[in-house]
Amino acid sequence: MIVAIDGPAGAGKSSVSRQLADRLGFQFLDTGAMYRAVALAALERGLGDGDEGRIASMTNTLTLDFSGNRVLLDGRDVTGDIRTSRVSAAVYLAADNPAVRERMVKMQRQIAGTRDTVTEGRDQGTVAFPHAECKIFLTATPEERARRRHAELKSRGEEISLAEVLAQNAARDLRDSTRSVGRLVKAEEAVEVYTDGLTTEQVIDRLEEIVRESRKA
Ligand code: DC
Repeated sequence: MIVAIDGPAGAGKSSVSRQLADRLGFQFLDTGAMYRAVALAALERGLGDGDEGRIASMTNTLTLDFSGNRVLLDGRDVTGDIRTSRVSAAVYLAADNPAVRERMVKMQRQIAGTRDTVTEGRDQGTVAFPHAECKIFLTATPEERARRRHAELKSRGEEISLAEVLAQNAARDLRDSTRSVGRLVKAEEAVEVYTDGLTTEQVIDRLEEIVRESRKA
């Protein structure tokens, strides 16, 4: 079974999706981490705007490993490095690149083909897994999303203001919802869940209920 969870940055998708997968005994696929790892690799090679072709061919040479809770890029643990705001600001270099997206979607289908999966991203219910048995669109107001991301970055020691995070999220939302391929859009049949004012536990309970309902259907 595939549970596809999409939604904007900072809606709390990663942590609730991971815990939902644990509860269900499914594997968890964080597809944002894939784009982040490619963006990090591009930055490390000094690639940027105008290097679309080079970033696409570089992607074909990378070894990405998402098993367990760690992200390995060419065998190196980059789990922490891919979460910095420097990588967040550059992730469009990977996410806006159609050839990169094609490779990532192929990889996502290969990974999900092996086991029951909770997969999380922007285009999981629309592009990667249009036939997923369960689709969820997880969101929250921009203020709530910025507050969460800000707390997360602060806890990792990044010096950044709430206003900066709000602006970064707004820029990323705009890019995510207007890119030519794999844009963030709610799949028609996805169940929309607003997480404002809910605890992580409450959100996971609600998602588990949605998964159980769709299993019965
Ligand atoms: O969920 P996240 O913040 O880790 O995602 C990082 C970026 O990757 C985000 O700006 C959008 C992009 N992304 C995407 O385009 N498609 C996905 N399936 C997942 C993430």
